[in-house]
Amino acid sequence: MWTFVVFTMAVWSVDAKGIRLHLSDEIKDMLRKSNWDHKNTALSIHGPMTLDVQSSFKLKKGQVFLKSRVHDKHKDCADIKMHRPLSRDGVYTIYPTPGTNNTVFCDMTTDGGGWTVLQRRQDGDTVFLRKWKDYKNGFGHAEDEYWLGNDAIHALTKDKKQVLRVDLMKFSREKGHATYSSFFVDNEAHKYKLSLGGFNGTKDLGDSFAFSNNAYFSTVDVDNDKYKGDCAGHHKAGWWFNSCARNNLNGVFRKASKKDATELSWYDWGSTWESLKSSKIMIRPRQNA
Ligand SMILES: *[C@@H]1O[C@H](CO)[C@@H](O)[C@H](O)[C@H]1NC(C)=O
Ligand SMILES: *[C@@H]1O[C@H](CO)[C@@H](O)[C@H](O)[C@H]1NC(C)=O
Repeated sequence: MWTFVVFTMAVWSVDAKGIRLHLSDEIKDMLRKSNWDHKNTALSIHGPMTLDVQSSFKLKKGQVFLKSRVHDKHKDCADIKMHRPLSRDGVYTIYPTPGTNNTVFCDMTTDGGGWTVLQRRQDGDTVFLRKWKDYKNGFGHAEDEYWLGNDAIHALTKDKKQVLRVDLMKFSREKGHATYSSFFVDNEAHKYKLSLGGFNGTKDLGDSFAFSNNAYFSTVDVDNDKYKGDCAGHHKAGWWFNSCARNNLNGVFRKASKKDATELSWYDWGSTWESLKSSKIMIRPRQNA
């Protein structure tokens, strides 16, 4: 009987002497305890960014495969990236708190990767005009369009300082992005109050999110804004509305329209409520924070 193990926790390095394998202490320990023979190594390159190396080891006859803890519970995508550096963009399960899990999309390539995607819009397949409970728990599909959920966003931002990145694209295919060096969302008792700062954006993309700083979250059924009317109803979205907003990333997905502020839009990118083709909101822990 053969037992094959793929070492996803192993780290490989390439230098002048060739390719070398660096095993974690856990795997070294596992190899020492059992009697393993190296069988083969497969190397495949996927574009300029990703190199996958898979090694197979066979277990000698009569040996018992030791239980390993390869499938650890990771808090967020940065944690997955740290333990499995070869991880690619895709859908993963994360554990924002020890007792909860979420299915999310991890961006493992943009600017070094390790980004947990909180929101994604790309085709209008998911309706974002939803009530408080849906925004609290999340909705949509991690492989397509979704909102992670305000409870999970709070859990992910409460312990470590986070960087926020927003990637946007117009229907003309023009791309832009904004980063914020700090991002925190409070818990439900504090109405998911938003704190963010340290804006930087690509050319022509102004800071539309600052207007929502210190705002509470509002939905069509729960009005926490500072406007006499109802911002969520006005903008047809759940969002951090102040006396409303200058961006509306959870607004209605409408193709190449410039109708009004109900649409998926970022006002300070051309001073217009022009609807956008896609948006992606994601976070990762700030380095050295
Ligand atoms: C995720 O949490 C649900 C309960 O909300 C639980 O039923 C399920 O087993 C958990 N999944 C994993 C992979 O931990
Ligand atoms: C701000 O963003 C631009 C464009 O991405 C980048 O070139 C620049 O280095 C950034 N500046 C800071 C201070 O991060």
